[in-house]
Amino acid sequence: MWIEGWIDHIFGQKWNPTYCLGALGYYYFWIVSISGIYVYIFFETGIPDAFMSIEYLTNEQWWLGGIMRSLHRYASDAMVAMMVLHIIREFAFDRYRGGRWFSWFTGVPMLWMVMIAGITGYWLVWDELAQYVAITTTELLDWFPIFGEPIARNFLAPSHLDSRFFTMMIFAHIFVPLFLLFIMWIHLQRVAHSTINPPRGLAIGTFLMLLVLSIIKPATSQSIADLSTIPSPVGIDWFYLWIYPLIDIVGPAWIWIGLLGGTALLLIVPWLPPAKKVPAAVVNLDNCNGCTRCVVDCPFSAITMQKRTDGMAFDQEAIVNPDICVACGICVGACPTASPFRRAGEFIPGIDLPGLSASTLRDKVERAASKLEGRPDRIMVFGCDKALRVDKFRGKGIATVSMPCAGMLPPSFIDFVLSRKLADGVVVTGCRRGECHYRLGQIWLEERLDGVRDPRLRKRVPRERVNRIWASATDGRMFARNMASFQGTLSDLKPIDHKIKKIKDGTEQ
Ligand code: HEM
Ligand code: SF4
Ligand code: SF4
Repeated sequence: MWIEGWIDHIFGQKWNPTYCLGALGYYYFWIVSISGIYVYIFFETGIPDAFMSIEYLTNEQWWLGGIMRSLHRYASDAMVAMMVLHIIREFAFDRYRGGRWFSWFTGVPMLWMVMIAGITGYWLVWDELAQYVAITTTELLDWFPIFGEPIARNFLAPSHLDSRFFTMMIFAHIFVPLFLLFIMWIHLQRVAHSTINPPRGLAIGTFLMLLVLSIIKPATSQSIADLSTIPSPVGIDWFYLWIYPLIDIVGPAWIWIGLLGGTALLLIVPWLPPAKKVPAAVVNLDNCNGCTRCVVDCPFSAITMQKRTDGMAFDQEAIVNPDICVACGICVGACPTASPFRRAGEFIPGIDLPGLSASTLRDKVERAASKLEGRPDRIMVFGCDKALRVDKFRGKGIATVSMPCAGMLPPSFIDFVLSRKLADGVVVTGCRRGECHYRLGQIWLEERLDGVRDPRLRKRVPRERVNRIWASATDGRMFARNMASFQGTLSDLKPIDHKIKKIKDGTEQ
């Protein structure tokens, strides 16, 4: 978070690449695909045709073909870099367990596919590097005695190879990325409202970066492969070919143990201890009117609608899949029935979190506010468990209440605090934009406060008394500064004058 904070300073929060690594992966995939199609048009199979056709693009048609070839290579490298950072980030921020196992699990085969696509690409050039890759790969494969005759024999002499070999390689080089695209789609099936396009400025910037690199350091081939010599390649692409020197050093057996063991470990990581199972959200049919807001806002597609089962006059009811739910509470923030003004009967919204019910949240708010001293700058802070720890700031004039995600806060709670004069100002805080642990809680809350997403913050709420300070765990100093300045603003404001009216069912507004 600290590193991302610095990147925020350089790129601005909107264009911070670490917030959209997956989307950048998609973007590089498209660049690789388009440039690949162009290169393929000129590619010829056969020896030495394959090598010659790539040489033609690089030297004769450098102004377009050469640039396309370089873009193809550098965007593929960028994809690997993005993938590695993406895994590290999801792991470091603990975003791979519970209901999120699905995205993690489907990500693992993608690692293999990206690598296989890249390695077969280097093979197609048929220069000395390709020869080295071909021979070493086949030695690696031959370690498994599944092929009747060792495939490395194909590379013993030029006469053993024909154009069918290149046709097979091209097939692998095109088919694997197509399958990768399919898995990329599966990867997002449980990520609602996923971002697959980076922000425009970042997309243009990163494309220009690849273009400039392609012009000043174009991708080139090494000497043509010669099967009568032992290749001594220089200039290995470390993004894709890092494993080859290792094969030479430790031998195929250890490489297979490492690769298969590493893959198995990655696959089971979401279920390794410490396992934290938090109770999933529950629907209370007596209060659910089937409005579908929770379905739309759940970031993990954990809620669906089904035909009404309790005979009430509504068509549908919400139903939660407890295996997918991560207990973020964002659905509670979305539910129009989660209003703390409700006094008639027990306060149970249509959807609620057993770990922190809306009613407990209201009790906590009232209890915290009762400890505030009588002064004109009392602040109620609504915080998020995954971001800056707000309880550290509790003190004179500051009361705090934290919840699993800021997106759990129904805007009516803010109205409640101010209209009941429980505090003179409200601060909502949570993860930085783009860093929301539950992906969308911060964005949805902003939109609800801005009045562009239901349930909206009521117009009567004095906006000058509501402050949003997005602060991750490492932003304590910035938060303290903003709090002090907000307290200053509040002391200069006239006292709030609100009349609470009772409506028919006993609800106070
Ligand atoms: C080609 C490579 C990959 C691409 C293009 C890609 C793309 C994406 C995208 C677009 C998202 C949604 C981000 C959002 O909107 O919040 C995502 C989420 C995710 N990815 Fe990947 N991904 C790739 C590889 C991987 C790998 C290798 C892993 C781990 C093994 C992985 C793990 C995850 C996880 C756990 C999430 C869910 C995050 C969450 O629920 O907050 N991804 N990925
Ligand atoms: S938001 Fe509330 S009322 Fe609407 S469908 Fe979901 S649980 Fe029911
Ligand atoms: S708590 Fe609600 S919004 Fe969050 S994952 Fe569960 S059902 Fe979805």
